[in-house]
Amino acid sequence: MKDRLIIFDTTLRDGEQSPGASMTREEKLRIARQLERLRVDVIEAGFPAASNGDFEAVKAIADTIKESIVCGLARANDHDVKRAGEALRNATSGRIHTFIATSPIHMERKLRMSPGQVVEQAVRAVKLAKSYRDDVEFSPEDAGRSEPDFLCRILEAVIAAGATTINVPDTVGYTMPEQFGGLICQLRERIPNSDQAVWSVHCHNDLGLAVANSLAAVMNGARQVECTVNGLGERAGNASLEEIVMAVRTRQDFFPCDTRIDATQIVPASKLVSSITGFPVQPNKAIVGANAFAHESGIHQDGVIKSRETYEIMRAEDVGWSTNKLVLGKLSGRNAFKQRLKELGIELDSEEAVNVAFSKFKDLADKKSEIFDEDLQMLVGDEAVTTEKEHFKLVSMMAHSETGEASYAKVVVGEASAEKRAEAKGDGPVDATFKAIESIVGSGAQMQLYSVNNITSGTDSQGEVTVRLQKDGRIVNGAGADTDIVVASAKAYINALNKLHSKAERLNPQV
Ligand code: KIV
Ligand code: ZN
Repeated sequence: MKDRLIIFDTTLRDGEQSPGASMTREEKLRIARQLERLRVDVIEAGFPAASNGDFEAVKAIADTIKESIVCGLARANDHDVKRAGEALRNATSGRIHTFIATSPIHMERKLRMSPGQVVEQAVRAVKLAKSYRDDVEFSPEDAGRSEPDFLCRILEAVIAAGATTINVPDTVGYTMPEQFGGLICQLRERIPNSDQAVWSVHCHNDLGLAVANSLAAVMNGARQVECTVNGLGERAGNASLEEIVMAVRTRQDFFPCDTRIDATQIVPASKLVSSITGFPVQPNKAIVGANAFAHESGIHQDGVIKSRETYEIMRAEDVGWSTNKLVLGKLSGRNAFKQRLKELGIELDSEEAVNVAFSKFKDLADKKSEIFDEDLQMLVGDEAVTTEKEHFKLVSMMAHSETGEASYAKVVVGEASAEKRAEAKGDGPVDATFKAIESIVGSGAQMQLYSVNNITSGTDSQGEVTVRLQKDGRIVNGAGADTDIVVASAKAYINALNKLHSKAERLNPQV
């Protein structure tokens, strides 16, 4: 029997700290349900002490999720630990994750505390957390730059106080795989009570080594990895869940453990997280990028046709990519549509949501002769995006471009019950469209990012557009999809404006 490698997903907590990735309570719940279908062992749902909104989101997830442990983060102080304990009160299985920094630079300059005070506070927090839950995790923040002797001292003390999981974070993504693996080995060997806790790691990707460092730790006895879908997370992100899971699964000859993840739910999870957060997945991203299983060169194509294993170490279907077959057409009915969504692991919350998605499907089928699974996934992802309260609505638009002439666009935007019209010229049809929308809305927001991806191949593919806007220190991502990329751009821009507008409802634990 191989050991279980526990998959701890922190998309809803560390992932949410990416610029513009903050989510509403409903969006977090939707992702949590998908993580449960993916069979992650632990879902870190948020940081309850950060805001009432985040408290409510963690509570809602704890009340709903039954098959995964729901975890709440807390700094090592009484207030945070109590809030986490209260948010998790109804959880079928709940965990409190408490942390305090242990590196010299963090203790001296950020906490302004002596090492002795840090140990005392950590032990107190773990004991208090134990009064709420048996399952308590402790993290020495910035462990990658902490003194091993001090780590041994504090970790022995928190295990004695009742911590059941010890998580070693490389908070700033500084360590090298050999060094990080060696640190885990050393801590496990030197700490006398180390066998009374599960060893976990949490790596950031600043040097592109988060997955390599996590896997080196697994080879040195770590049995929990903290990660996020699509590698979402602060700065360069966290270790990517799909890469960790598939590395361990594909190389069972190498790793002494395996996960219980349902890998066929990986791509649906990736698409859901991308559409809700507005963070596109780069095409060459391992496992979940659009090109991850595409073979372009003649030599590779020839090899794959003769024997798939010549150039493929995993099967696209095993991680949830559809075989790209034509699924539905213009004449398909509502039942066939619902059935296909079910087969793709997509559950819509209500019959009303199915009706909205079905009518979007019919509109798309009018424009696009072949509809693939990816189109359906985007369409319902888009549905998730548009459940955002729509203060502004794109009613209609036209954009004109001609060589040698300035492009211009006309738009009609709905705001409350009024429809407003505007037209503008710009450098290309997208620029003209954005200027026309802005002249109606007058948001004054700054554009930080504009990107376009195709969802399937072919010139009739839907374009998926992401727009990141910044205003008064708030950053939001908007997403939109359409066979016409100028329309997709307008949808994404309006979606971002709606997110900026509905301030109160978005959660951002780090603010
Ligand atoms: O990166 C980090 O150190 C963290 C801790 C809270 C685990 O996210
Ligand atoms: Zn982190």
